[in-house]
Amino acid sequence: MTKAQANSQATIKTQVAIIGAGPSGLLLGQLLTKAGIDNIILERKSGDYVLSRIRAGVLEQGTADLIREAGAGVRMDKEGIIHKGTDFSFQGEHHHLDLEKYSGGKHVIVYGQTEVTRDLMDERKKSGASTIYEADHVKLHDVDSESPYVTYHHNDEPFRINCDYIAGCDGFHGVTRKSIPQDKLVEYEKVYPFGWLGLMSDTPPVHDELVYCAHERGFALCSMRSETRSRYYLQVPDTDTIDNWNEEKFWDELKRRIPPEMAERLVTGPALEMSIAPLRSYVCETMQYGKIFLLGDAAHIVPPTGAKGLNLAASDVETAFRLFVKIYNEGRTDLIPRYQEICLARVWKAVRFSWWMTMFLHRFESAGRFDFRVQQAEFDYFIHSEAGNTTIAENYVGLPLEELE
Ligand code: APR
Ligand code: PHB
Repeated sequence: MTKAQANSQATIKTQVAIIGAGPSGLLLGQLLTKAGIDNIILERKSGDYVLSRIRAGVLEQGTADLIREAGAGVRMDKEGIIHKGTDFSFQGEHHHLDLEKYSGGKHVIVYGQTEVTRDLMDERKKSGASTIYEADHVKLHDVDSESPYVTYHHNDEPFRINCDYIAGCDGFHGVTRKSIPQDKLVEYEKVYPFGWLGLMSDTPPVHDELVYCAHERGFALCSMRSETRSRYYLQVPDTDTIDNWNEEKFWDELKRRIPPEMAERLVTGPALEMSIAPLRSYVCETMQYGKIFLLGDAAHIVPPTGAKGLNLAASDVETAFRLFVKIYNEGRTDLIPRYQEICLARVWKAVRFSWWMTMFLHRFESAGRFDFRVQQAEFDYFIHSEAGNTTIAENYVGLPLEELE
């Protein structure tokens, strides 16, 4: 871009430039706005496209509290379903795990991520804070200087945002992590040899709680969005494609993997949506660089087995938000290194739990008879012991969030 072009582009100033208007970006933006910290969100897609994404729907209490703090919890508290337990089955043997009893009184809320996103978008619109949808060619500049800035195009017009900090809430495929020098990135990845085939249907859920089903035919999950909308998943090989499936085949296979009494009462119906998602674990330990902070899927990906994706994003947001308040209200830039320290400690515990739930419940084609019997013994121990129930419950409802200081 020539100097003349650079001078001709419209320049905006803000305190925190947020890249990405998914749950992480919207939640951080709303919290900052309510705290009087100026921010602008740049989103590559349209608002409708963002809302079209189907995602998980289990909120830890900490996540729900943060959504309320952002002023976007009214519909969640009205329509969200409190779950004080969750269920497991192994080869059809059904067990209830009392989350409240084994987590010291905590529970989770079942409320779709799409609805969380919608509520945050509505609140942001009411606040008048700026979200630029369909922002193209977002680029980050001078990220390790005292004057970082972001450029982008909107309706083919060039724009520049001068800012103090950049919050990368742009997911795994975003631009922010890629703006950190490659030799500064410390990354870890594990790819699982299977995916989840998901189906959404306007049918009543087969059970009043979520049921995680381990079976020699493969894992299945019975979940829900409301009392009239169900969400089911089947483990499929990583080579499988959606063309191999139809509704009838899905329902037949689900009935084979869930407890018999549930199979008998399962209400089937047309699929509102069917799709396959791959499973992997990814962590970028470089969660901050210069004036960049990485949050949510921009920094980490977990298999959905532990329902941690959105909740881990929310804990990054809470830590970043508390830090920005300290910086702008008290000048506490000395706390900046605490962001990565606090987030990584929590990220790895959630990555571990998501990995463990995935190994605990899925069928590995490479595994032999011995491995299957060990998996059965693992199920017997964790589901039938106080210690086992406690470790699952306290991780599932969410571990306590470490304070900045
Ligand atoms: N410029 C602007 N926006 C971008 C760019 C870019 N270069 N790249 C990606 N984005 C946008 C995407 O369009 C998306 O709306 O960033 C947003 C990232 O949102 P998510 O991928 O949902 O990530 P996050 O907000 O961290 O939420 C994590 O979403 O994917 C699930 O399982 C995950 O539940 C977890 C949650
Ligand atoms: C979902 O409802 O989509 C869901 C619930 C729990 C999980 C994963 C997905 O662990």
